[in-house]
Amino acid sequence: MKFSMIILLLSFSTINFILVQSVTLEISKFGGKPNQDIAKALTSAWAEACASTSAVKIVIPSGTYQMTHVDVKGPCKAPIEIQVDGTIKAPVKPEDVGGDQLLRIGYVNSLTISGNGVFDGQGSYAWKHNDCSKQVKCKLLGMNLGFNFINNSIVRGITTKDSKHFHVNVLGCNNFTFDGFKVTAPGDSANTDGIHIGRSTGVNVLNTQIATGDDCVSLGDGSRQVLVQNVTCGPGHGISIGSLGKYKEEEPVEGITVKGCTLKGTTNGVRIKTWPNQPGTITVTDMKFEDITMDNVSNPVIIDQEYCPWNQCSKQNPSKIKISKVIIKNIKGTSGTKEGLVLACSSGVPCEGVEISNVDLTFNGAPATATCSNVKPKITGKVPECTAPTTKKE
Ligand SMILES: *[C@@H]1O[C@H](CO)[C@@H](O)[C@H](O)[C@H]1NC(C)=O
Ligand SMILES: *[C@@H]1O[C@H](CO)[C@@H](O)[C@H](O)[C@H]1NC(C)=O
Ligand SMILES: *[C@@H]1O[C@H](CO)[C@@H](O)[C@H](O)[C@H]1NC(C)=O
Ligand SMILES: *[C@@H]1O[C@H](CO)[C@@H](O)[C@H](O)[C@H]1NC(C)=O
Repeated sequence: MKFSMIILLLSFSTINFILVQSVTLEISKFGGKPNQDIAKALTSAWAEACASTSAVKIVIPSGTYQMTHVDVKGPCKAPIEIQVDGTIKAPVKPEDVGGDQLLRIGYVNSLTISGNGVFDGQGSYAWKHNDCSKQVKCKLLGMNLGFNFINNSIVRGITTKDSKHFHVNVLGCNNFTFDGFKVTAPGDSANTDGIHIGRSTGVNVLNTQIATGDDCVSLGDGSRQVLVQNVTCGPGHGISIGSLGKYKEEEPVEGITVKGCTLKGTTNGVRIKTWPNQPGTITVTDMKFEDITMDNVSNPVIIDQEYCPWNQCSKQNPSKIKISKVIIKNIKGTSGTKEGLVLACSSGVPCEGVEISNVDLTFNGAPATATCSNVKPKITGKVPECTAPTTKKE
């Protein structure tokens, strides 16, 4: 009896040992050296990792590297971790990157990206040479990271810096988490959205700092069950749902929670924006904006269903996007404008089920105001009284 127990214990620990044992592949094994383009080395390391039947960790050690476009895909046979401790620099000129994303990973399950390394898009040249701040149809100039059709995965610790265009694009992913992630770019770098999420379910952005020139986190159509928690944004344009409604084929947006976040000096705090006079008819439902601190934010809470930058659309017909079940709760701090709360809902499909409680925002020391149109919010606690808008928001 005792003897078989010992055997059992021994075999358990052997199994455990095998399970935790993951193969480590340093990129130097594939010719990846500091100050050189590691695109080929990383691609070769991925190929070996992806074919492995046990978990593999690819390591990019500290040091500075160059990298051109890398596009790697699954399906892979076992979990893969990429530990980035080095600084990886993109070519300065967009045309030298060789693709629209510096690192694109797709079609995998159980991916981990870890480390304290940096993806540096070296975007300042590209920002000067693009026209994205002046027109809608600007040339897309290279994102730092693209995650496509990935499940059950996590990005932890690393930094993305000075991307030429969006820092991170998340498309078609399920159960994808950013934790302790960092985005940094100057406030005047056009179109450098922090994390853009679209057509994905179960995305978490946690404990993350995002300083950039455009949206902090932007949620496109088909975003479902997204949690943005303990995220600090600023500078930048804040947390944005949309713009939505421009295209007929869009998918609904549902279950978005923004909680315990701080916005500093951003143009918007939390925003939902939809286009008027456009074909999209999706629904936007189950939005929660809770426990948010605003620090000198121009539009702290805004639903804008007449979103029409550069006056490129007609406002003749209202937006057809139906917004419902919105909870706005415990919002405090300072507004950069008189209007702390703007709910400009569609006259065609008014907002429904909007609940507001405890909004304590000041502008120049006085309570900020609220304007509401095409919505009858349910109010509890201290909330500024809703008045009809006098001026149109841009
Ligand atoms: C990810 O999950 C979706 C939905 O369950 C599934 O269709 C897809 O095959 C999965 N992808 C991978 C790479 O495992
Ligand atoms: C979600 O992904 C994480 C890895 O980031 C994994 O540990 C967890 O089990 C996944 N959850 C589900 C429900 O599959
Ligand atoms: C919030 O995120 C920061 C990193 O930005 C982290 O240092 C801090 O521990 C997090 N707070 C909680 C309660 O998790
Ligand atoms: C608030 O932000 C504006 C720019 O949006 C800036 O000009 C102003 O100095 C800021 N005020 C404070 C008190 O930080």
